[in-house]
Amino acid sequence: MTKNKKTVVIGVTGGIAVYKALDVVSKLKKKDYEIHVIMTDSATKFVNPLSFQTLSQNIVNYDMFCEPKAWEIQHISLAKKADLMVVVPATANIIGKVANGIADDLLSTTIMATKAPVVFAPAMNTNMYNNSIVQDNIRKLREYGYTFINPASGRLACGDEGEGKLADTELISKHIESMLYDKKDLLGKKVLVTAGPTIAQIDPVRYITNRSSGKMGYAIAEEARDRGAEVTLVKGPTSLEPPFGMSVINVRTTDEMLDGVLNNFNEQDIIIKAAAVADYKPKQYSEQKIKKASDEFNLTLIKGTDILKKLGQLKKDQILVGFAAESNDLLQNAEKKLKNKNLDYILGNDITASDTGFASDDNRVTILCSDGRNIPLEKMSKRQVARELFDLINEK
Ligand code: CTP
Repeated sequence: MTKNKKTVVIGVTGGIAVYKALDVVSKLKKKDYEIHVIMTDSATKFVNPLSFQTLSQNIVNYDMFCEPKAWEIQHISLAKKADLMVVVPATANIIGKVANGIADDLLSTTIMATKAPVVFAPAMNTNMYNNSIVQDNIRKLREYGYTFINPASGRLACGDEGEGKLADTELISKHIESMLYDKKDLLGKKVLVTAGPTIAQIDPVRYITNRSSGKMGYAIAEEARDRGAEVTLVKGPTSLEPPFGMSVINVRTTDEMLDGVLNNFNEQDIIIKAAAVADYKPKQYSEQKIKKASDEFNLTLIKGTDILKKLGQLKKDQILVGFAAESNDLLQNAEKKLKNKNLDYILGNDITASDTGFASDDNRVTILCSDGRNIPLEKMSKRQVARELFDLINEK
């Protein structure tokens, strides 16, 4: 991710999850955002403002009528400074106040006065959260354009089980980064990405697959989402957490991936096939577990559909991007695939390189374009590769 100096005003309201808001501040500070914290009176009963002050490296604001430190009117100046406001944790009280136009302390007046987007990350007892009044207030605020990061389910501080736990702090931080992303040039575009491996089932317990981690496809899908696209991710089995803010279709086999892609193909503007698709599948799937018998066991495999090639035949004005995983003659092989599969771009990567590829967070690719250009990129994070790819696509 790029360095930035955007300003995030974090409102902290009084619930037991206040301590988790410290982690959100710490995470955002590490990403180099300017952070200003406003605490409500009840929040200061849970955690001393000094903790937020130390992590944000700014004075914490909690009293609207305190001696002014400058000529500025605090709630107006913070409201103007904010590129984004986040309320974490957001109690039923602050949600209710904002939904009903009440502005009676520094946080609620700042929310009322700001023109920046405001995000609420609610945390409260599950019965409170599911109370129709709270749900009505949330619905009303959503209609006004406020964003909510839904709470998770689990065991709550009061001992109850259910919805109401503050969303994971990493997720909150990623949401904020996504909303503040410096490029929004894919707004209004639809992007479909495939990621991870597919599997070819032999019998109920055995299958053939490959080493794809899904990281490259995820990085592309997240870059597209953060740039404003409506993203569909068709993913094979991976150990990665499903990303937020996109529609995710889980598949296992090549045929399932083919269906997932074809069912959504027509309405897409850009399709990027980063998945490592299993090319062959057993000729015969055994319904029963295969027993060991002779010393040798032969498995006959048959070719499955080349999904990308099929898309190349079907494509109208969509932009189609593929990958070429090669262990030798990278450029020649990638170029062949670019032409055979009727692609606009192909990213060739050398799978024998020990410092990049499969499970690594980095990749080193050459992007080959249908207009004949070859663009070799340095070793960089998979996210940066995704950024370079969309920069290139958007040049058009
Ligand atoms: N691909 C696909 N369907 C397949 C095989 C590959 O859609 N059955 C896509 C991959 O997602 C990738 C591109 O085609 O974007 C190239 O995949 P790769 O494995 O490098 O090449 P193959 O076409 O399978 O050719 P080979 O295995 O002979 O190198």
